[in-house]
Amino acid sequence: MKLKTKNLLTLAELNPKEFLGLINDSIKLKKEFKKKGNRPILKNKTLTMIFQKPSTRTRVSFETGMFQLGGHAINLSSNDTQLSRGESAEDTAKTLSRYTDCIMARVYEHDLLEKLSKHSTVPIINGLSDTFHPCQILADFMTIKEKKKKFKGLKIAWIGDGNNVCNSMMYGASLSEVSMSIATPKGFEPDKNVLKESKKLTDIELTTDPFIATQNADVVVSDTFSSIHNRDPKRMKKFLPKYQVNSKLMKNAKKDAIFMHCLPAKRNQEVTSSVIDGIQSVVWDEAENRLHTQKALLVALIHA
Ligand code: CP
Ligand code: NVA
Repeated sequence: MKLKTKNLLTLAELNPKEFLGLINDSIKLKKEFKKKGNRPILKNKTLTMIFQKPSTRTRVSFETGMFQLGGHAINLSSNDTQLSRGESAEDTAKTLSRYTDCIMARVYEHDLLEKLSKHSTVPIINGLSDTFHPCQILADFMTIKEKKKKFKGLKIAWIGDGNNVCNSMMYGASLSEVSMSIATPKGFEPDKNVLKESKKLTDIELTTDPFIATQNADVVVSDTFSSIHNRDPKRMKKFLPKYQVNSKLMKNAKKDAIFMHCLPAKRNQEVTSSVIDGIQSVVWDEAENRLHTQKALLVALIHA
């Protein structure tokens, strides 16, 4: 899929055709991989990964994805780089651009990604910032497409914290014209500007009632109540027990609704074990699909 954007910092950089095209490419790469392995489309290409925060899925899916496409990934925890000693984003981006074909960074402040992208001559990918997680949403919509075979007419219920993943999911919903109902406690709503932008293309409703959000929902989504950047233990009181996805809440959604979670999950906080480990849960396919969507994105940005 040819993309107009050089970087992927948020899904706002994609148009609907590009978003849906990346999902289709991911499905094709998955099929090819399972049948006979992928062709070495990214032979001799390197990806530099910078992690200011911990990661399991993002780290391993990007590194494995590069390897399976014939390329190579270099992992740098932020302490391994001179960024941690005050080297500027500008100098870091200019330097890395001379060695590597793409930079993926997981950062605290989204602004650091903006700075890196301004000075990098190679693509910058957001591997999660405090405000967005676009790569997760590519995998989520690939999973929805696999399970529901369509996007048109679907409804997603987001339950819990209106966080970085929720912000990106609103963009994903708008690009695929899926409607969303978001149930959060007061004061934990998603980003107002993203909501306003996303509502131009699809219906998005905000509520404080998880039972309103899940009514007629095809997909029920939760995420941690305490994101890596937001670990105040007092937050829990605002979410529990009302915003926990449990069997009763799942029963309020459509009969064939699926449950999704980007992981890592805290069982019996944002979701009960019976739901996340139950038959409606698709979290392991969702996690696997990070690999396939990462590949499609890397090919689109590096190989273009
Ligand atoms: N979902 C996700 O991004 O997982 P990691 O934090 O393990 O990368
Ligand atoms: N919202 C979570 C997602 C982790 C993948 C966080 O930012 O920690």
